[in-house]
Amino acid sequence: MGDSIDNIVPHYGMSAGDGPHSYRGALDAVKPILEEEIAAKFDIWSGQEALCIADFGCSTGHNSFEALRIIIEAIKRKHESSDLKIPEFHVFFNDVVANDFNTLFSSLPTDRNYYVAAVPGDFHRRLLPPSSLHFAYSSWALMWLTEAPEAAEYGGDGYLEQFERDLDSFLKCRAVEMVDGGLMALLIPGVPALWDQEKEFTVASVVEPLRSCLVNMAEKGRLSKAKIESFKVPQYFPNHQQLRAILERSESFSIERMETLKHGRTSYSAEARAKSIRAALQTMIARHFGDEIIDELFHLYKEKLAASPIFRELNNDKTVVLLAILKRTNLQCETAARLLI
Ligand SMILES: C[S@@+](CC[C@H](N)C(=O)[O-])C[C@H]1O[C@@H](n2cnc3c(N)ncnc32)[C@H](O)[C@@H]1O
Repeated sequence: MGDSIDNIVPHYGMSAGDGPHSYRGALDAVKPILEEEIAAKFDIWSGQEALCIADFGCSTGHNSFEALRIIIEAIKRKHESSDLKIPEFHVFFNDVVANDFNTLFSSLPTDRNYYVAAVPGDFHRRLLPPSSLHFAYSSWALMWLTEAPEAAEYGGDGYLEQFERDLDSFLKCRAVEMVDGGLMALLIPGVPALWDQEKEFTVASVVEPLRSCLVNMAEKGRLSKAKIESFKVPQYFPNHQQLRAILERSESFSIERMETLKHGRTSYSAEARAKSIRAALQTMIARHFGDEIIDELFHLYKEKLAASPIFRELNNDKTVVLLAILKRTNLQCETAARLLI
């Protein structure tokens, strides 16, 4: 299977045990949609002893466990309503090799009704055997790119093209691993098609103030200016139309439903925001600039956010969460079959 990206650039891993809680609210909005879609569209494989579910990019599990509970309960209800024997569940937790799987396993819910296994590795590669997966889930992970495009402006076309290539690889691998009729739920942080960058902010706005803190530190001689030039954050936050256009090109998945959900935050201080950005980017920043700058950098960052009239006002946050429910279908075969009717 060759070298995997996480062995070459293990920059994704969240800080140990310090997963993000800030977008937990989005799961409340996702719950009824997941339940409806599973009730209506999850195929029943009668006689199947075990069903497999995988969470791609699970981090330390904080949000994963609740999502899995919702998915498993909905699948069980579907079996009960069909008078079918409830299968056993096997959950695969995926994240990069450097992820803190120890924290995940030590915080597994004690009342869980599923078997667990870790599947470490880059989710843009194959991770599971063919036709073995019945439900795939991924939340707040696919915005990570395998690399930041050279000489491209952050968030510009070069980043969108990389996002498209990466998402395409993810879908191609899952297409092999999933059974026909299997469902996939993707939750990706994104931006509205139109928003005012002068007055509003989104999840895509976090890098600019960070860069400005780095420049301030370089001016004080704390780090080299040249290092800032080569510092790139390999993330892309799509809007609804961009995501839909990529998903529509897939020949293996049909789009069953797409929703743009509000972020769901009710309060979020500069300190909490800086903490969550630190959890997400610390590993990558330390790798590039060295561990010793981290405390000072995020102290400055918190102050910059607190002093900004844009970031101070919660209503200025226009971040959205894009939810896509896909079904594993062989669209080529379906089209051919329809032509024969
Ligand atoms: C922001 S956390 C999201 C965690 C969790 N899914 C949730 O909703 O809270 C993103 C996770 O995706 C993982 N990730 C990013 N790129 C990945 C890749 N190529 N393969 C596997 N995991 C990846 C990161 O290591 C990180 O733990």
